[in-house]
Amino acid sequence: MRWQKSHGRNSLPWQNTRDPYRVWLSEIMLQQTQVATVIDYYARFLQRFPTVGDLAAAGQDEVLALWSGLGYYSRARHLHRCALDVLALHAGQFPGTAAQLETLPGIGRSTAAAIASFCFGERVAILDGNVKRVLTRVLGFSADLAQSANERALWAKATDLLPTGDLAESMPRYTQGLMDLGATICTTRQPQCLLCPVQRLCRGLAGGEPENYPVKTRKLKRSAQALSLLWAQRPDGSVWLEKRPVPGIWGGLYCLPVFESDAALRTFLPQGMQARLEPLPHFRHVLTHKDLRLSPWFAGFRANQAMPKGLTSQADDGAWFSPAQWPALGLPAPIRQLLARKAAA
Ligand code: ADE
Repeated sequence: MRWQKSHGRNSLPWQNTRDPYRVWLSEIMLQQTQVATVIDYYARFLQRFPTVGDLAAAGQDEVLALWSGLGYYSRARHLHRCALDVLALHAGQFPGTAAQLETLPGIGRSTAAAIASFCFGERVAILDGNVKRVLTRVLGFSADLAQSANERALWAKATDLLPTGDLAESMPRYTQGLMDLGATICTTRQPQCLLCPVQRLCRGLAGGEPENYPVKTRKLKRSAQALSLLWAQRPDGSVWLEKRPVPGIWGGLYCLPVFESDAALRTFLPQGMQARLEPLPHFRHVLTHKDLRLSPWFAGFRANQAMPKGLTSQADDGAWFSPAQWPALGLPAPIRQLLARKAAA
């Protein structure tokens, strides 16, 4: 805690507040996204939605549009549902304990603990990826975290280590200190052990190979997928965009129609258009579990020509959108970039 005070991060936009709305919003954004990226999004969200009531009153599409570019869009859908639940089930006030916070959409055990320790000084442990690394190293905890019993044991140790006095002051300080240690000193590769406030306690360092922690055997299975995209455009520049099904890649966002193959895209169009399809340069996009290879095809539609039916399971989720409307839609970042490139060309 002394180290946090002098060497930690103490002036990030979501610090120095005990407002659960602000802390919750930042913690959700920070779950899979770096601080530097979150800062601008956080400011835009708070400006547009100063309170949880403002967020609940918005449409899901607007929330997704404002989230566009942060990735992991289920976070944005849960964020909105959570705001609705806070209004409907908790009279517009975030509940005051980690156990209750954890019942809300998108708030897992560690996020609930972060909010409760920052806002209410509750004595509860966080254990996200960074903190697992810090604690397994300090403790020399070498049991395989792929097994849930070992993960439970680490939660118990994390709880044992929490401060015991002056919780209103110590819990926020301690929680932030663990986060800061994991983000700035106790990094995955080449940790800065010489600068670490707990170097003399650290069993991982004493053993000579702190980087060997944490131990987790199950490897993420990555797969590759090729998808074809239909860029259908009318003479006025409007483009056909449709809402992606949930769950699935880019669920809930607007997107060019997606096909499993070039052949599937081709046969979807009337005979006369198939010959006039123009291939555009394909590009790659990396998701957590998938490497996507995306092949866009440009098809010029006539002014009032309709899109053939039967694109996705939902029938009425597509429309022609003019370029002026795109910024307000939730579009996946690679699709937005693709549209911008062609528009600029
Ligand atoms: N990552 C998750 N929560 C954080 C916080 N409060 N400050 C900085 N990085 C974080």
